[in-house]
Amino acid sequence: MSDDTVQEFFLKEDNELRFVAGEESDVCVELISGYAELFGTELLLNKKYIFPAKSRVAVFTWKTAKVELVGKFESAYVAETTPMVIYLNIHAAMEETRKKKELQSLDGSKPKGPRLLLVGPTDVGKSTVSRILCNYSVRHGRTPIYVELDVGQNNISVPGTIGAMMIEKTADVLDGFESNFPLVYNFGHTTPAKNLSLYNLLLKELANTVNNQLQFNDEARIGGMIINTCGWVDGDGFKCIVNAASAFEVDVVIVMDHERLYSDLSKELPEFVRLTHVPKSGGVEQRTGQMRSLARKRNIHRYFYGTRSNTLFPFNYDIAFKDIQLCKIGTEQLPDSCLPFGMEVENHELKVVSIEPSMDIKHHMLALTRSPKIDETIKSTTVYGYCLVTEVDMEAQSMSILCTQSTLPTKVFVLTEVTHLDDQLQR
Ligand SMILES: Nc1ncnc2c1ncn2[C@@H]1O[C@H](COP(=O)(O)OP(=O)(O)OP(=O)(O)O)[C@@H](O)[C@H]1O
Ligand SMILES: [Mg+2]
Repeated sequence: MSDDTVQEFFLKEDNELRFVAGEESDVCVELISGYAELFGTELLLNKKYIFPAKSRVAVFTWKTAKVELVGKFESAYVAETTPMVIYLNIHAAMEETRKKKELQSLDGSKPKGPRLLLVGPTDVGKSTVSRILCNYSVRHGRTPIYVELDVGQNNISVPGTIGAMMIEKTADVLDGFESNFPLVYNFGHTTPAKNLSLYNLLLKELANTVNNQLQFNDEARIGGMIINTCGWVDGDGFKCIVNAASAFEVDVVIVMDHERLYSDLSKELPEFVRLTHVPKSGGVEQRTGQMRSLARKRNIHRYFYGTRSNTLFPFNYDIAFKDIQLCKIGTEQLPDSCLPFGMEVENHELKVVSIEPSMDIKHHMLALTRSPKIDETIKSTTVYGYCLVTEVDMEAQSMSILCTQSTLPTKVFVLTEVTHLDDQLQR
């Protein structure tokens, strides 16, 4: 790689080095001197971090730093103004609340730590700020719960899910947070709009389950919650935000870069909720629909094959149709005229329907549900994980699946609308 560019950058206090790796080239980042962090995780001095092609990265310093980049990068510059102090202040306020709650808990009561909901349109840095706040909390000795409500760009499991996990370690600079026995609910679509009834039901289920588990974990309860949402903020999207705030009993809502949303929420949310409007970082990327869909593809690939430093070897095997039970959640709406007189319309979005495997399920993700049988409870049961249907053989009455486990933990699967072509994408 003799034609690689080698460039050193000097960062002053509160500066951020932003770069985008080239189309086909890795970029190596090294902290030569000083102090620097990447989305809240401290960089180790003289360690070489190799970012894959097209990565978009920001290295920030609270003090001063000398950082070296080696490789081909599309762009690299030092930004002198960033909103990091504002994000740090949000962290400081959360920490204050935790301390107060800790004092209150001395009398044996079980107060909750701060619960913060991050909302805003797409591409304002919600996921990045969630990561920064989780990292700062961990660096302060806290163990917050990270809640992922974004069914499109999901940081806990595959697209089409919502979930929660306790954060005990700072995110790996390259791989993000370690998956720590997450609670995962299957939604099955990449936008809440595809089934609002199910989305709102799952919000409540997730919140209840997390609340129940927190009763027995004082540290996690005081650590509080950092809740990330998707960028749908209008119409029903706005209602989803209000529902999420209520289900998780949040006391802080951070609105990122959207004044109207801030104003609308100030009218809608209860008075005890502290609402703050914060700017987005100039470094945040605007992504096209195509880029979002590629990010989802990468997410699924990573679920099965892991990352460069933590490679997984998934299993590919055949299962006979007779050995499984398959269902889907939600059906077409029946017109009123088809119903017997006096009969109430069932919510078709929440209907559980058994289905027979067919060619149509090829390339679909199937949820491996914890429910032992197909009944109404299946829609709000957590999942073990996912498998991908890579082939369907109607003649042999079997299908091939890609799975992270060599044996299936269940025989009951839920079909999702999330599809993926397993073409062994390069990581
Ligand atoms: N300060 C920064 N400098 C450079 N890149 C950044 C910075 N902050 C975030 N990014 C990058 O911008 C992209 C979008 O950020 P992020 O995913 O946090 O936005 P989002 O609001 O969560 O978007 P979405 O609505 O799609 O979930 C990511 O690739 C992220 O790595
Ligand atoms: Mg996001």
